[in-house]
Amino acid sequence: MTPHLRPARLTDIGTITRFRLQRTSWLAARGSDQWTRAGRGLPIETFVRSVARAVDNGETWMAEIDGEPAGTITVNDRADDGLWSPGEIAEAVIVHYMIVDLRFAGHRIGHALLEHAAHLAAHSNRDWVRLDAWTTNEGLHNYYIRAGFRQARFAGPEATGPSGALFERPTASWLSTRRLPDPVTHAAQPRLHAG
Ligand SMILES: CC(C)(COP(=O)(O)OP(=O)(O)OC[C@H]1O[C@@H](n2cnc3c(N)ncnc32)[C@H](O)[C@@H]1OP(=O)(O)O)[C@@H](O)C(=O)NCCC(=O)NCCS
Repeated sequence: MTPHLRPARLTDIGTITRFRLQRTSWLAARGSDQWTRAGRGLPIETFVRSVARAVDNGETWMAEIDGEPAGTITVNDRADDGLWSPGEIAEAVIVHYMIVDLRFAGHRIGHALLEHAAHLAAHSNRDWVRLDAWTTNEGLHNYYIRAGFRQARFAGPEATGPSGALFERPTASWLSTRRLPDPVTHAAQPRLHAG
């Protein structure tokens, strides 16, 4: 199942919020506190504001299957304090808020979203795709290992959030397994800004 990737629009924020709430319940049912308030996850209002900013900046993407929204990813060059060093951020794109609608689980939509992040990294001459994952969720860590990432480290005490397991994969490793799509076929490119 190969999804169609397109830039998110402000009208997608409701769908992205639904994905987040749906998956938070799914995680809780599996015994994980990822994204819950009890686990120090973002209040949903803060999540919505943050996604709205990312959508407005052209940093958020939707995956569609037959015109149906199936997943989302945000890719930019920002990370919470204390996770990656400034040098690590400068040579990478940072993945956030990757979510696949449960209706489309098991079809490797997440892999297509990560490959899209690699495409954006290549287009911006960034050598790495990096992300932070929920510190205590080993199931999620294993997902990223299976997706070809390696764990760089756990963030140190200067990182205060609950998402401190740091994963990275070289952009070139996607290029070597499969030719990345030509950037000109994409409707929009991200504007990567600092800060
Ligand atoms: C991570 C995600 C985007 C991957 O999408 P995908 O590539 O289409 O893969 P699937 O949804 O089919 O999941 C693949 C496997 O990873 C597991 N997995 C995914 N997210 C997980 C999580 N947060 N915690 C534990 N296990 C997780 C799934 O249970 C599944 O396991 P299985 O193969 O034993 O059934 C999607 O699973 C998702 O939305 N997860 C919840 C939200 C999340 O954790 N996002 C990442 C934030 S850093």
